Amino acid sequence: MYHATSVIELRQYVQHWKEHGQSIAFIPTMGNLHAGHMSLIEKGQSLCDRSLCSIFVNPMQFGPNEDFNHYPRTLDSDFEQLEAIGCNLVYLPTASELYPEGLEKISQVQVTDLTDYYEGAHRPGHFTGVATVVLKLFNIVKPDVSVFGKKDYQQYRVISKMVADLNLDVQIIGQETTREASGLAISSRNQYLDPEQTGKAALINQLLRDCAGQINEGERDFKAVEARAVNRLDEAGFKTDYFKICNAETLLPASAENRNLVILVTAGLGETRLLDNIEISLW
Ligand code: PAF
Repeated sequence: MYHATSVIELRQYVQHWKEHGQSIAFIPTMGNLHAGHMSLIEKGQSLCDRSLCSIFVNPMQFGPNEDFNHYPRTLDSDFEQLEAIGCNLVYLPTASELYPEGLEKISQVQVTDLTDYYEGAHRPGHFTGVATVVLKLFNIVKPDVSVFGKKDYQQYRVISKMVADLNLDVQIIGQETTREASGLAISSRNQYLDPEQTGKAALINQLLRDCAGQINEGERDFKAVEARAVNRLDEAGFKTDYFKICNAETLLPASAENRNLVILVTAGLGETRLLDNIEISLW
């Protein structure tokens, strides 16, 4: 596996592959890689000749009281997993090259509408930080395909909208969430949970599946479904930020006519916020 830290170095590898007619799948990450990331890389490998993964803990997408400084940085284990899966190149950008004049001076990408609610409302500036760094990375790497986990469903939709709105020449693929046997969505932040919380956390996915089942069976009182789910989370000791049945495209509250839905949930357990979702197709 090749390593690149500068834009010039990275572009040399990419240019070489492109000159040989090879397509490139790009998987941007913040490191601390796990089975979920590996499934994104495998997806990219199934679609393109070369796979390229970036690891960059992007300061621009963290709020002042968030875990930027404590975000787990595990490069040795990351490299091992990437080697084992046959990733062709790992790109390790430096903050000084991506943000040469600091975060305050960088031009910003603001994706409209989709960023106003849920994680956008809870974490002001978060999606601007994500969209800005992802656009920069796309412009540096110029991939054919880029794979995003549907675990961060709103992020996946925000990036897809940015690509459509700005006519970017890259295909965005949403990859299904990788789960523990309990149904818990695999996430870097799961390591903040103690064993009791890890057991409890599986309730989120159980509830999502229960609610999807009710909707598939004809339940259309979405508000009642949401209220029952929030109750069950509250009773189990979660602090629910939102549990919303949405139109899967716009992420606005779903109406009874919508055919493609997604239920988005974020619930806190101790100090950890857990995100999950389930898509529902009503045909
Ligand atoms: O999902 C993530 O890990 C990050 O938000 C991303 C897409 C790598 C941008 O920093």
